[in-house]
Amino acid sequence: MRIGVLASGTGTILQSLVDAGLSITAVVVDRPCRATEVAEGAGVPAVLVERSSFGADFDRAAYSKDVSAVLTERGVELVAIAGFGTVLDPVFFEAFPDRVLNTHPSLLPSFKGWHAVEDALAAGVKITGCTVHLATADVDAGPILAQEAVRVVPGDDVATLHERIKAVERRLYPDTIARFARGELP
Ligand code: GRF
Repeated sequence: MRIGVLASGTGTILQSLVDAGLSITAVVVDRPCRATEVAEGAGVPAVLVERSSFGADFDRAAYSKDVSAVLTERGVELVAIAGFGTVLDPVFFEAFPDRVLNTHPSLLPSFKGWHAVEDALAAGVKITGCTVHLATADVDAGPILAQEAVRVVPGDDVATLHERIKAVERRLYPDTIARFARGELP
């Protein structure tokens, strides 16, 4: 399956998908970020679909259509969200029905949202983890495909805990995408 990846951050999850040998044919970023360099290193130039606004005037539907157009033009069949900082409009998911996956740094349904690691620390949980799920218009709520627990250790801060979780995501996400693409998951 031809895979398109959406990223906004450092791109270490994207790098793990590249290293796993997945067939990545497009990368879209919503802002200038290091993921662009990771994509270029893999020979898949990232397309910057820059988000025009972070305010109330942001046209989420138009933006989401622009992102899906870039992916469709490149023949993408399966979308992997890898730390993408823009919530996509339902119109995006209609373009790729049951073909969008996401990795999230918590054991969903706990700690949805962009601050999952911070929220887990604030709640004082001793175990958190990561979840790979089918992404839907309902943020961080689609059917769960894979999960793995990660221990919180004394002295953890957001950076140390997130890095321990990401070490697991870099294995679990490519594995789950490959299984999904082979039709081994519902
Ligand atoms: C991952 O923890 C992912 O689950 C979250 O954003 C992080 C992306 O990490 N949504 P990186 O920027 O690829 O290192």
